Amino acid sequence: MKLISVSDEEELSRIAAEILFTKVKSAKRLVLGLATGKTPQGMYRYLSKYSKEYKQSYTHIHTVNLDEYVGSTTYHTYMEEHLFQHIDIPNDQTHIPDGEAASLIEECSRYEQMIKELGGIDLQVLGIGENGHIGFNEPGTSFDARTHVVQLTDSTLKANAKYFVDSKQPKQAITMGIGTILESREILLLAIGERKANAVKELFKGSLNEEIPATALINHTNVTVLADKGARKLLDKES
Ligand code: PGA
Repeated sequence: MKLISVSDEEELSRIAAEILFTKVKSAKRLVLGLATGKTPQGMYRYLSKYSKEYKQSYTHIHTVNLDEYVGSTTYHTYMEEHLFQHIDIPNDQTHIPDGEAASLIEECSRYEQMIKELGGIDLQVLGIGENGHIGFNEPGTSFDARTHVVQLTDSTLKANAKYFVDSKQPKQAITMGIGTILESREILLLAIGERKANAVKELFKGSLNEEIPATALINHTNVTVLADKGARKLLDKES
């Protein structure tokens, strides 16, 4: 696993956006796996800015998001607001699990099949939960899991409650599985702040442990972790 140490959120956002933008610019076709949450917001801001400045087209890009709340379009709205409305990506080339699907089970299989038909994910961006979750794969999820419906833990519900001040927070979500994520050809994990320090420490110093979902990445051969000072706090202390 490669670690890129940055000082703060601003630098992390800029460097993450540069990594993505370079791929968007140079690839003939690219399947980008995208994440939501607080962490990648700055990255999307820079990516939108670069795309405008350089008049970069996204007609050759397909995006596949990690997750969505059940009965909700929260992350559809998020992606529209933070990225899709700023670039020229065709609507039908952006994919997010449908949390409002009549059959959630069928939606999960459809999502897996769709990723397969796209030829898999070239680069998957990940955040990391305080409890080490990736996507919404909570502690205890099998490392083989495919796209599935999850019951969110109290820790995750609490961390994300801020997005639901005006509406009821769903307690379930659809998430790409860890097995699905691990098939991505390349992974870029972003970690900001001391709250993530323990999870980041487990990534670099720990071993495979289904109670800390992110440790599944230890065996992947092409993972880059971008971490700011806060997120590296427990690493720096011990090295
Ligand atoms: P955050 O969430 O970016 O809002 O901290 C990250 C995650 O839970 O994966």
